[in-house]
Amino acid sequence: MPADMFHLGWFYSKGFGPKAWKHRWAGSSVDRFTKPDMAVHLAQAMERSGFDYIMLEDSSNVPYTYQGSHDAYLRHSVDTPKLDPTVLAPFLTAATDNLGVVVTCSTTEYHPFMLARKFNTLDHVSDGRIGWNVVTGSNDGGAQNYGRDRQYPHDERYDMADEFMDVCHGLWNGWDDDALVLDLEGGVFADGSKVHPIEHVGKYYRVRGPLSSPPSPQRSPVICQAGGSERGRRFAGQWAETIICAARGVEAMKSYRSDVRAEAVAAGRDPDSIKVLFLISPIIDESFETAEARRRHRWDTAEHEVDFGLAALSRSTGIDFSKFDLDEPIPPLETNGHQSSARQMEGKILRDVLRYNRTLETVPLTGTAQSVAGDMDELMQEVGGDGFLLVESYHSRRYIAEICDGLVPELQKRGLTRKSYEFNSFRENLLSF
Ligand SMILES: Cc1cc2nc3c(=O)[nH]c(=O)nc-3n(C[C@H](O)[C@H](O)[C@H](O)COP(=O)(O)O)c2cc1C
Repeated sequence: MPADMFHLGWFYSKGFGPKAWKHRWAGSSVDRFTKPDMAVHLAQAMERSGFDYIMLEDSSNVPYTYQGSHDAYLRHSVDTPKLDPTVLAPFLTAATDNLGVVVTCSTTEYHPFMLARKFNTLDHVSDGRIGWNVVTGSNDGGAQNYGRDRQYPHDERYDMADEFMDVCHGLWNGWDDDALVLDLEGGVFADGSKVHPIEHVGKYYRVRGPLSSPPSPQRSPVICQAGGSERGRRFAGQWAETIICAARGVEAMKSYRSDVRAEAVAAGRDPDSIKVLFLISPIIDESFETAEARRRHRWDTAEHEVDFGLAALSRSTGIDFSKFDLDEPIPPLETNGHQSSARQMEGKILRDVLRYNRTLETVPLTGTAQSVAGDMDELMQEVGGDGFLLVESYHSRRYIAEICDGLVPELQKRGLTRKSYEFNSFRENLLSF
């Protein structure tokens, strides 16, 4: 493998739900958003072009933070509706052979035993291709579906998640490799002395164990994480195997990566065992001019979707953004939601933030497939990162083809991304370079 090869993932934003439903190229995804076909189509195209994984985003409530009502969320389909990604995942792994599938589940919406069991089963049925995007919740409306008025305080959510991870790993490691005997002649199915209860009694959870099923091909799902706050980075340094990072600009990307790598070292881990993937949303076309025109169109569209943008921001921060002036700097924000997003926008003009949030342009990557492949090469060399996570706010089948059949072949030609998979499991492929 050339030393400068990097990994590719796809952030399936808005999860198992509607995509660019009122935009051009939306096609059949509009009325079939409750079916797996769009995601299956994407997964197969990604596998053809050697991606490591698709990450299925999720949140589980119909938000009502903006204007104190769920109307804007439902009218524009802002982060709702969403179906359960753990049910979508097996459709994707059944339709592919090598692609990793990362499913988002919140530590404040699951019990650790239930989660450990679910991911053990997903890893079995996918033959070792499952990952878990560990999130801790952000919107109070989500907490209200699970018996609480508010989310737990931000940093405490991560403390709870630490204990949650200890329990899950204890359960995933509770069966010895040779516990399953399957000795027909001797009449022994499994050896009881090799299956261990964990007897966990902690601050937040009590779990006896053992897990009710044997170890899966990877034993544990690949752990994916996206925490941007100081506490979130510490959590990522301790647990994550791949990190998805929405840093804007080269300097922010560099500093994020060096921070989490330092956290990994502090946690006694090899920093190269964490693959940091940076979010990008390239625009590819036949020429620079046509690509630039599409970029301008994307920005114009974003500018007209003010209600959409305000509703989305309100959801992720838990603050009703209808009370702020669009053309004034955003004041300091007290949030119990996504703290890193709040810090990024304070002092900036609200209208500009909305435009950025909708276009998700972390760095401008606009041009032909050849030029953008070259730009990505340079960017990766400068940042020293491990790869990119593709995302498109106005997701459509057209975009899938442009990336998987246009851009990625150019990356492969330059020896920057893989042409075929070396290993069977998601983790082995992720750690292979
Ligand atoms: C690319 C990306 C994808 C994310 N996907 C999800 C998701 O699917 N569900 C979720 O609840 N939070 C998601 N988040 C939010 C993070 O899990 C985390 O809560 C957020 O980055 C704030 O972290 P912080 O509070 O440590 O700053 C995502 C964040 C990023 C950058």
